[in-house]
Amino acid sequence: FATRIIQHLNEIIQNETHSLPLRLIHSEEITFSNGEVKTVIHENVRGDDHYIVQCIDDPLSEKSVNDNLMALLTAINAAFQSDADSITAVIPQFPYSRQERKKTRECITAKQVAQFIEVSGANRVITLDVHAEAIMGFFTTAKLENLHASNYIIKHFKENYSANDLVITAADVGGAERARYYSKTLHAHLAIVDKARDYSKKSVISSMRLVGDVDGKDVLIPDDMISTGGTIINAVKLLKDKGAQKIYVTCSLPFFNEPAVELLSKAYEEGLIAKVIGTDAVFHGQEFVKNTPWYDEVT
Ligand code: R5P
Repeated sequence: FATRIIQHLNEIIQNETHSLPLRLIHSEEITFSNGEVKTVIHENVRGDDHYIVQCIDDPLSEKSVNDNLMALLTAINAAFQSDADSITAVIPQFPYSRQERKKTRECITAKQVAQFIEVSGANRVITLDVHAEAIMGFFTTAKLENLHASNYIIKHFKENYSANDLVITAADVGGAERARYYSKTLHAHLAIVDKARDYSKKSVISSMRLVGDVDGKDVLIPDDMISTGGTIINAVKLLKDKGAQKIYVTCSLPFFNEPAVELLSKAYEEGLIAKVIGTDAVFHGQEFVKNTPWYDEVT
């Protein structure tokens, strides 16, 4: 995914009339003993087009989503204060993207994140398969560009796996549009898991039912992200109960937060999941990719 980001940046740069050579600048992220963070840029960036790449949910670092978000905001504002001409934040994972609407008495945090990014000084944000495209509308002065991983994942699936009578199944109603795209591109049938959550109980899944037929068929579930693995495991169990054969799971953002790795490994060993295919937009390291039989990484 890093390669695609660089390709995308090169395309943008080539399209600009005032294009300048791409260079990595010397900057520093300083964390104070009370946890506060600041970014210092150690060279002149006045008049430059400035790109800041930040992994928000980083499995290989000790830092939390909130630490990384705050560091991003300080980096954007450091570039703004240094008179960069334009500032683009490249964030494969848009933080708080699942808090994009009010379900009960709660905040719409995805909108706050958009506002923080804008007031810090960014003009453009590049992200991957943002959970809800409505988030684009939360920006007023900056623009959100949403890249898609679907074509790379579909290519990998076609080159490596053969499925019998494939049914693309959305893990929830929110994923229906993505599933429709997969079903059209792979000439496969479509089904949807209707998932309900109980918002009075920490958003626990309260019911799941299948709309469509998977009996005797192979299934591919294209999700945008796997966090705890709860959604996928529940969907896979339901599909197996309904007679599904091999089940493939794909996701653009394989966060694998606790206890996802344990749940997915167990599901693979029990024959519930044939393979999980993710992208390197969330970096787990080559050791993990090499040593995890249930996981394929698309770059
Ligand atoms: C839900 O709307 C998303 O598309 C994902 O299915 C969900 O957020 C994944 O979270 P978890 O793995 O914790 O169930």
